[in-house]
Amino acid sequence: MNKRLVILGSTGSIGTQTLDVARWRGYRVVGLVAGANAELLLQQAREFEPELVYLSSGIDASRLPTKTRLARSANEVAAMDADVVVAAIPGLAGLEPVRAAVQAGRLVALANKESMVAAGELLWEEARAHGADFIPVDSEHSAIFQCLVGEPRQALAEIILTASGGPFREGPADLSGVTPEQALAHPRWNMGPKVSIDSATLMNKGLEVLEAKALFGVDLDQITVTIHPQSYVHSMVRFKDGQLKAQLGPTDMRLAIQYALSYPDRPPTPLANQPLPAALNFYEPDRERFPLLDLAYAAGRRGGVAPAVLNAANEVAVAAFLGRRIGFTDIPRVVAAALAEAPELPLSWDNLYRADSWARRRAEELL
Ligand SMILES: NC(=O)c1ccc[n+]([C@@H]2O[C@H](COP(=O)([O-])OP(=O)(O)OC[C@H]3O[C@@H](n4cnc5c(N)ncnc54)[C@H](OP(=O)(O)O)[C@@H]3O)[C@@H](O)[C@H]2O)c1
Repeated sequence: MNKRLVILGSTGSIGTQTLDVARWRGYRVVGLVAGANAELLLQQAREFEPELVYLSSGIDASRLPTKTRLARSANEVAAMDADVVVAAIPGLAGLEPVRAAVQAGRLVALANKESMVAAGELLWEEARAHGADFIPVDSEHSAIFQCLVGEPRQALAEIILTASGGPFREGPADLSGVTPEQALAHPRWNMGPKVSIDSATLMNKGLEVLEAKALFGVDLDQITVTIHPQSYVHSMVRFKDGQLKAQLGPTDMRLAIQYALSYPDRPPTPLANQPLPAALNFYEPDRERFPLLDLAYAAGRRGGVAPAVLNAANEVAVAAFLGRRIGFTDIPRVVAAALAEAPELPLSWDNLYRADSWARRRAEELL
């Protein structure tokens, strides 16, 4: 089927891989949103001739192909007529366009985990009201989704998220001297800078624990994390009868992206028939060297706006680390301190934005 796709974050890692999938399948790309990379957005617009594009930093509309119009906002593109909206703008900056897509009743293929972490319950409420739905793009959540197809939900006992362990799984005990270049060198996945640093600190797994809680409606106690260096098992579920189901495959995000875009079909891809890995290993995460994992669980247990505070403080700390203003081990220090002082507020849209602004200000002070 010639599906109509909107891609939020089209110039990034997930965005460009989504365009590969669109080329494989001949999907019609009708809307593109990006942040600052005007040249790549223009190149994409020339190739796909979308109906609408938007660039947050601004773009000269006269350079667009004649069939393409410049939108007034990212939300306008997010809400346009489409079969699937791929949400791949990182951080809470991705939330408003996700919300616009939800309010327009769209199917959202969700890569932007931060919006589900900070606002999961609120997004589901709006999705129910507007007939929207989510399908995961994150490989772990795609794996869990695939494991649960055809299974009775009451039979689910545990979600086991796999984590590669990042570049420092076997690294030095003391991570204080780690540089941004070392932290960005992920052993398995080629991703954008924010999610790469989150993978190195294990915050990415913490965010994924909270994303899984919100996406699949399970308790935090039902979600565990295992380190799996081969990144071949993308995640697993354990059922109440003691049996497990895992989803395995090559470490290529285009497989999870295509699954989200084509579900319930499973069309062939150029990545079929890859060799099996020689071994599959599973280890306990090192919770002392990577304290952000437990901080994420703590934020999830507190509930309300605590996950939003965790996320916002982490975004500030990661940006400061990438800008060489703080060291690697300052990231958990800043997040822990902000979380400890976080206001106890129930989750509402107002409280969420208030808590997000408070946490960003406080994290800046704590740097
Ligand atoms: N990469 C992966 O393999 C992977 C896997 C699982 C989940 N995810 C999740 O997917 C999301 C995207 O990750 P990524 O690795 O693709 O990030 P990325 O490579 O950094 O790309 C980010 C994209 O978002 C755009 N963008 C950033 N800020 C924006 C803003 N304010 N307004 C509009 N567009 C904006 C960027 O535009 P410009 O480049 O033009 O500035 C770019 O197109 C994240 O939430 C991440 O956690 C990623």
